[in-house]
Amino acid sequence: ERGEYDHFMLKEIHEQSESLARSIMPYINQATQTVSVPEAAETLFADADRAVAIACGTAFYAAFTAKYWFEQIARLAFEPDIASEFRYRRPVLPQKGFSLFVSQSGETADTLAALRYCRENRTPAIAVVNVPESSIAREAASIVPTHAGPEIGVASTKAFTAQLSVLAVLALSAAKARGHLLPGDEMNYVRSLLALPRKVTEALECAGQVREIARHIAGKRDVLFLGRGRYYPLALEGALKLKEVSYIHAEGYAAGELKHGPIALIEKGLPVVVVAPKDELFEKTISNVEEVRARGAEIILISDAAGIKAAGKRADHVILLPDGDDISLPILSAVPLQLLAYYVALTRGTDVDQPRNLAKSVTVE
Ligand code: M6R
Repeated sequence: ERGEYDHFMLKEIHEQSESLARSIMPYINQATQTVSVPEAAETLFADADRAVAIACGTAFYAAFTAKYWFEQIARLAFEPDIASEFRYRRPVLPQKGFSLFVSQSGETADTLAALRYCRENRTPAIAVVNVPESSIAREAASIVPTHAGPEIGVASTKAFTAQLSVLAVLALSAAKARGHLLPGDEMNYVRSLLALPRKVTEALECAGQVREIARHIAGKRDVLFLGRGRYYPLALEGALKLKEVSYIHAEGYAAGELKHGPIALIEKGLPVVVVAPKDELFEKTISNVEEVRARGAEIILISDAAGIKAAGKRADHVILLPDGDDISLPILSAVPLQLLAYYVALTRGTDVDQPRNLAKSVTVE
């Protein structure tokens, strides 16, 4: 039940501290501060030449975020793909690798068809699903469940962060199996994962401020979301969340692509949400911010303390994230993006939990 909350979406956003703890704990050995995933999955990692990761919608953005972790931390070629494209392309599958399926419901028709294609072609499938008795879970060689609990809101929130946390554990386990993770680094990542539930609570403290920004955005026609590297998929997810629940036109772009077209859209007063905690690409993103700001865009910067300080007056509004690393910060970035979509929708009076034309689970093509 909704309890004290007006909508399931808001309740599920606020549940993320617990849903993340539930999703992470089964894959952490607390005594040794190491990651441990089902053996069937682990054995696939060591000699894999390549992996494909298939999903739809928000689950696809979770897989896309995981690409950065699998490539950078585990040094494994990792190709995320949209199930409806993958299934009809007769894709070339990895020779020695595996396929990964990400789905909250475990019943998405295109994702299930893509899984069957991989099975028919003898590519082992790992499923990251929230419903363990679902079709995708039943048909996969190995299941690595998320434990987000039932998600009622059509817009996926707590399932997304649970997917990210489990994918992070898988990437770390792959890094270890492939000899790319020093024990000290594993311990640091494990500590950071264990701190996530507490940090999500901290991240939720931005709600009041996000609500103010949302009131302002609610009157706009378009919103642009920008990110680079591991934050690019988060920009895409932020845009999807906003359009789903508020019906405002939103686009997510890789910050470096701006010059190749979308900058033509920038006009005075266009809100541009920039997801950019301070990392090795931060300065590049900020130079894109300067370009759009010079053309009158209003910058809403989602960043950590170091990023907000470095951006200085170049942001019109800032949303503060707790400190974190290359795994925790993308996960924490999801929180203000979800709140922004929620509060914009609330201001506009749309049906937040049951947006028009959408179904919770897309079991037909
Ligand atoms: O159940 P699944 O995770 O397979 O669903 C995939 C998408 O249909 C789903 O994430 C959809 O994009 C949500 N409405 C996003 O909020």
